[in-house]
Amino acid sequence: MHPRTVHPSTTHPGTAHARSTHPRTPASDVLVLGGGIIGLVTAWRAAQRGLRTAVVDPEPGGGAAQVAAGMLAAVTELHYGEQTLLALNLASARRYPGFAAELREASGLELGYRACGTLAVALDADDRAHLRELHALQRESGLESEWLSGRECRRLEPMLAPGVRGGLRVDGDHQIDPRRLAAALVTACERAGVTFHRQWAQRLTVAGERARGAVLADGTALASDQVVLAAGSLSGQLEGVPPEVVPPVRPVKGQVLRLTVPKAYAPFLSRTVRAVVRGGAVYLVPRVDGELVLGATSEDLGWDTTVTAGGVYELLRDAHELVPGITELPLTETRAGLRPGSPDNAPLLGPSGLPGLHLATGHYRNGVLLTPVTGDAMAHVLTTGELPEAVRPFTPQRFGAREELTV
Ligand code: GLY
Repeated sequence: MHPRTVHPSTTHPGTAHARSTHPRTPASDVLVLGGGIIGLVTAWRAAQRGLRTAVVDPEPGGGAAQVAAGMLAAVTELHYGEQTLLALNLASARRYPGFAAELREASGLELGYRACGTLAVALDADDRAHLRELHALQRESGLESEWLSGRECRRLEPMLAPGVRGGLRVDGDHQIDPRRLAAALVTACERAGVTFHRQWAQRLTVAGERARGAVLADGTALASDQVVLAAGSLSGQLEGVPPEVVPPVRPVKGQVLRLTVPKAYAPFLSRTVRAVVRGGAVYLVPRVDGELVLGATSEDLGWDTTVTAGGVYELLRDAHELVPGITELPLTETRAGLRPGSPDNAPLLGPSGLPGLHLATGHYRNGVLLTPVTGDAMAHVLTTGELPEAVRPFTPQRFGAREELTV
C-alpha cells in the first residue's frame, strides 16, 4: 500500500485466492490494514469486545498523526455545507474526555489532552468579515462561541499582534498531542492482545465474492473473517480491491512546523490561536511541555511530502503577522503529512460494497477529532453488522449510490 511500491492490480474480484505456497498464520476475526490512529482505535475497540484482531502496518502509530497538530476543532473548523459532519465531530468531541481517560488508564501513558479552548482572530477587514460569517453559522448551528474585540483578544493572549481586529472565543475546542495518542493506542492494542504484522499489506484476498484476508509484502497470507481498510491517504492503493469498492480518497499535503517555547517565555500562548490569512488557515497550538505546533499548508500534490521553502516561508510569514514574537523561538522541526481527503470531506465508515470488507478512512482534516467515535462505530459494526444510527450518513456506499444517480 506504499505509493512507491503500488502496481496496477491484475486481480479480478472473486479470483484472488491466496497462493498455497504462501506461509500461513492463524486466522483472526478482524484484520485491520493500516496502523495509524484510525486503524489502531478500531483494533483496540474490536479487541476489547473479544474479537481476535490483527493490525498490518510497517510502523504502527506512524502516518498523518506524526504530523498533525491535534486540534479538536469541531466549532472553529465548521464549514458551510458540512452540517452533517458537524454532528459527528461534536459527538466525538463530547467523547474525548472519557476516551482520553480510558486510554490513559489502558496504556499507562499521557496523551497531552488539554482542555484549553481556541481563539480565532481576524487581522484585517476581510478576515473580520469571514470570521463574522463563521460566527453567524456557528450560532445558527447552536454552537457556543463569543465575539471579542481586538483588545479583548489581546487581553486573553498578550502575544497577539496589536493589529488584531477581533476574534471568536471558542472554549469548547481543545487539543491532544497526536504522537502521544498514537503511542498510547499502540500500547493499548498490545495490552488488549492485538497482533501486529510490521510490514505493508500487498493485496486484499477476495474469494467467493467476499474479502477473506490479505497478502503481505513478504507473501504471508493472513486469513480473517472481516477486513478493515484503514490506511489513510493510501486506502485507495491496495491491490485486489474490486474497482467499484476502491475508496475515493486522495492525499492532501499539509506542511507543519514545530517550535519550542523556552521556559523563560512561558506561557507564550495559553490556548490554540488561529486565523485565516490571505485565504490560508494558520494555527498555533501550544502544548504543556513547551512545544508549539504551527500549521498548516493544504496542497493537492499527490504523494509529495517534500517540505518546501515556500511552505515554511508562508507559514512563518502568516504566523508572524498573528504573533510577532514567534520569530524568537527555536524552530525544531519541519514536516509534511498527507490528509486522507474524501469527495465530501467526511469519513467513510463501515461496510463497503464487498462483503467482509469495511472502510475506516477519508477523515481528512478531522482524523484526530474523530478517533473516539470511529473506534466505537467500527467496533459496533464489526460485532453487530450494523452501523450506529449517528454514523449511517458516513457509509462508504453513499458515493456508489451518487454515481449511479448521475449516470
Ligand atoms: N485540522 C487541521 C488541518 O487539517 O490542517
